[in-house]
Amino acid sequence: MYSPSDSRYHSPDLYRRCGRSGVRLPLISLGLWHNYGAKDSYENARAIVFRAFDAGITCFDLANNYGPPDGAAEVTFGRILREDLMKWRDELIITTKAGYYMWPGPYGEWGSRKYLLASLDQSLKRMGLEYVDIFYSHRPDPDTPLEETMGALAHAVRSGKALYAGISNYPPTETVQAVKILRELGTPCLIHQPRYSMLDRWVEPQLLSTLEQEGVGCTVFSPLAKGILTDRYFKGIPADSRAGHDQRFLRPADITDALLAKTRKLNELAQSRGQTLAQMALAWVLRHKVVTSALIGASKVSQVDDCVGATRNLTFTGEELTNIDEILTQ
Ligand SMILES: NC(=O)c1ccc[n+]([C@@H]2O[C@H](COP(=O)([O-])OP(=O)(O)OC[C@H]3O[C@@H](n4cnc5c(N)ncnc54)[C@H](OP(=O)(O)O)[C@@H]3O)[C@@H](O)[C@H]2O)c1
Repeated sequence: MYSPSDSRYHSPDLYRRCGRSGVRLPLISLGLWHNYGAKDSYENARAIVFRAFDAGITCFDLANNYGPPDGAAEVTFGRILREDLMKWRDELIITTKAGYYMWPGPYGEWGSRKYLLASLDQSLKRMGLEYVDIFYSHRPDPDTPLEETMGALAHAVRSGKALYAGISNYPPTETVQAVKILRELGTPCLIHQPRYSMLDRWVEPQLLSTLEQEGVGCTVFSPLAKGILTDRYFKGIPADSRAGHDQRFLRPADITDALLAKTRKLNELAQSRGQTLAQMALAWVLRHKVVTSALIGASKVSQVDDCVGATRNLTFTGEELTNIDEILTQ
């Protein structure tokens, strides 16, 4: 029988306000994209969630299609809730999303009201929840009026099935439009979820400042570049690593010698800061105050411990930032 650590809230600095809202999120959130599928170890999956919650991580990120198969991560998380965690429901921010392919036919993906609201009902059922804390539009839909997609999010909030609305993968212009519509509908956009890491800096020129101006929070996904910005691949490709056993989104060919040369140099810099490479990569995305949370994945309990340790040092000297830029552009 799980009982959370009494010291889980002993680090008040672990939380950052999410835009101009009443909600604070942990600097590190846990995503269940990988390692929560039907074939993954349930014992390992629950141990990772428990260790995260014990460390003060209150935010757990899901989507309708996380698995495999699609939906399996929500089923796994639902079981963890049902068997252990539901008692602490009011301490948790549980999120889900809809936008990518989920079921056949014209209503099983993208951004229609029909798809989004049906998908949310399915997600709630799989997790055994009455509501999620944040419901995201997972990606912009070029063929559905933004008013319809945002209207569906607003309806989800007004119906009590979600507490807040969020968007993910929206470029700056669509973000401004979506935020405006949601504000007019009386259900403000709480948060944006874009990809951001040292290896993918597309949010830097405009999106981050847009979010700051609009008072929208930001949780950045894949801050470790799916494991590349860690020591995981320094000695080859371990069989239990993502590139080693699940090549849907990270193939061994993606881990090139040129990339490893960079990550080894970054690792030396991290060591000079008294951090692991993973910790420095997380601190680096969190150096922007507009970034509310870094949304990690983990395949082991020890990775959660390591990642939470990043929050002990989030400041960089100008020289360190220049060195990082130089390594990245070499
Ligand atoms: N909105 C979207 O479109 C979208 C897209 C993708 C992801 N997401 C969300 O973002 C979450 C995180 O994505 P991600 O899993 O790609 O994030 P990530 O944090 O960049 O990569 C996680 C992987 O890095 C490795 N790792 C983590 N901590 C480590 C440590 N301390 N030392 C060594 N290796 C470490 C593990 O790889 P191994 O498994 O190899 O051990 C882990 O599975 C997802 O779960 C999901 O919730 C959202």
